[in-house]
Amino acid sequence: MSQAPQPRSVSDSQSEMTELVLPNDTNTLGNLLGGRLMHFIDLVGAMAAYRHARAHVVTASMEHIDFIAPVHVGDLVILKASVNRAFQTSMDVGVKAWVENAMAGTRRHVSSAYLTFVAVDENGRRLPVPPLVAVTPEELRRHEDAGRRRQQREREHERRRQNEAAREALSPAPADR
Ligand SMILES: CC(C)(COP(=O)(O)OP(=O)(O)OC[C@H]1O[C@@H](n2cnc3c(N)ncnc32)[C@H](O)[C@@H]1OP(=O)(O)O)[C@@H](O)C(=O)NCCC(=O)NCCS
Repeated sequence: MSQAPQPRSVSDSQSEMTELVLPNDTNTLGNLLGGRLMHFIDLVGAMAAYRHARAHVVTASMEHIDFIAPVHVGDLVILKASVNRAFQTSMDVGVKAWVENAMAGTRRHVSSAYLTFVAVDENGRRLPVPPLVAVTPEELRRHEDAGRRRQQREREHERRRQNEAAREALSPAPADR
């Protein structure tokens, strides 16, 4: 019989990544492409989820992302990811990105995002994830916020499902036309 996964702390899976912005990553103004930054965010978020679950993970959603300031070619992008909350098979992960100008020695916050990852086996079947132990006030706040995000997502999902059902009820089936 398989054992229940052991609880893990937030620090067990916190992950960090640094990327140098090269010309290939930029738009016609020499600024980092938003899609490229999203790729970095997805990667570092997946690292934290992978470490927490100790299993393969897939991205279920990238829920909220802000691009606060442009990032220029030659800048360093520093990304940090933490698991905020573990549910049954999914994990809410927060990612924060900063840009560092190595020449000027400055660093500022450029982006934040929340993602959900789901643990799966080699065949894509969902796997239970270990509970997350939130200890510090900051970890507890993030844990609560993740619960609120999930409730909001479920309400939105239900609202869309009802809208879809209402639209289908109004449009005649092909055989009736
Ligand atoms: C994510 C995925 C595994 C969910 O599988 P599913 O059979 O739809 O599963 P369910 O609806 O039963 O939900 C399973 C879990 O995922 C969570 N979940 C599902 N869709 C979600 C979404 N859009 N956002 C956040 N969480 C989501 C559920 O809340 C549930 O969490 P829990 O087990 O912790 O309670 C499946 O949709 C999938 O494989 N998607 C493709 C993933 C992928 O390829 N990602 C890369 C995209 S480029």
